[in-house]
Amino acid sequence: MAALDGPVQLCTTLGCTNKATLQCPTCVKQGLEGSYFCNQECFKNYWKEHKAVHKKKTPSKPSTYNPWPGFTFSGPLRPYPLSPPRVIPEHIGKPDYSDTGVPTSEREAKKSLSIQQLSPDEIKEMRIACRLGREVLDIAGRAVRPGVTTDEVDRLVHEACIERDCYPSPLNYYNFPKSCCTSVNEVICHGIPDGRELVNGDICNVDITVYHNGFHGDLNETFFVGEVDDANKKLVQTAHECMMKGIAIVHPGEKYRNIGNEIQKHAQTNGFSVVRTYCGHGINQIFHALPNVPHYSKNKAVGVMKPGHTFTIEPMISEGTWRDVTWPDNWTAATVDGKRSAQFEHTLLVTETGCEILTQRTEAEGKPHFLTP
Ligand code: MF3
Ligand code: CO
Ligand code: CO
Repeated sequence: MAALDGPVQLCTTLGCTNKATLQCPTCVKQGLEGSYFCNQECFKNYWKEHKAVHKKKTPSKPSTYNPWPGFTFSGPLRPYPLSPPRVIPEHIGKPDYSDTGVPTSEREAKKSLSIQQLSPDEIKEMRIACRLGREVLDIAGRAVRPGVTTDEVDRLVHEACIERDCYPSPLNYYNFPKSCCTSVNEVICHGIPDGRELVNGDICNVDITVYHNGFHGDLNETFFVGEVDDANKKLVQTAHECMMKGIAIVHPGEKYRNIGNEIQKHAQTNGFSVVRTYCGHGINQIFHALPNVPHYSKNKAVGVMKPGHTFTIEPMISEGTWRDVTWPDNWTAATVDGKRSAQFEHTLLVTETGCEILTQRTEAEGKPHFLTP
């Protein structure tokens, strides 16, 4: 109960006309007006009715929440209830799948089998979309801490996208229900933000894609939740190094299939494995375009880098097996052995001389969040 100073207020309790001296601390915390009481006693007696005005948190205790009886989880993480769908204001430009769930233009583009070379004007648009995506990821990353639900991270992401005139690309892409992916601990990728509170010692990847002025920008980082142990630090550090090893060979004339050789070499040197089911991808007016970019060695990816290509490198690096299993939500990809997995992603532009990291951090010398908490 906070002491009240300022203009005269009357007690909120129905039928009480005393001057208010105290304010409900929950209301103060939630920024709710009109929560004044004359004394502790009155507050206590009116609590049952009063507490209804408090904003409800997304449920986070799933004692009885078990959506898939019969499914055996590979690790300790469990799903929690989802919050109601979030809405997109009319004025935001939407991709073709936003209503139907089906990315029709993406399906068409993949039939042509050619990698798009962007024009200078298209490259300008990609730079803008990727910079906005970076801003959104930095906002999400700063919110990651013990006690915060991944749904709360998703809400911040959704609102930050709208503020920047962006559509959050994951929303309704093949019916994905939320505005970003949050992948915790043994989840490799495509985790759905839900009511689970992050716990000290977790690792949490947040994957942001924004759609702005007709172009997508895609990036992700794995964040530490509070204090994590050395094994987690090494896993996350190595995942970031793997991505940078892949980026280091990007230049015109290089084969896309060689990226995986660099990444797997570095992962193996550190005793980790490389996930094989999920790959990097071309990205432009299409969310997932050609080329396909595997992160493992001796892959058979098709294509040679040319100036004007835009694509992602997003290795998923696991402590144990590289094998993945999908939860019955048809999205969440977890490790088969329940050990942890970490990921980083950038959107890249092939330039005349090498590569531009379109989703690069501009502040703090470009270091990833986990090195500059
Ligand atoms: N952002 C992811 C990627 O890097 C794709 C997420 S698709 C979603 O390719 F539907 F799960 F959001
Ligand atoms: Co991607
Ligand atoms: Co992504």
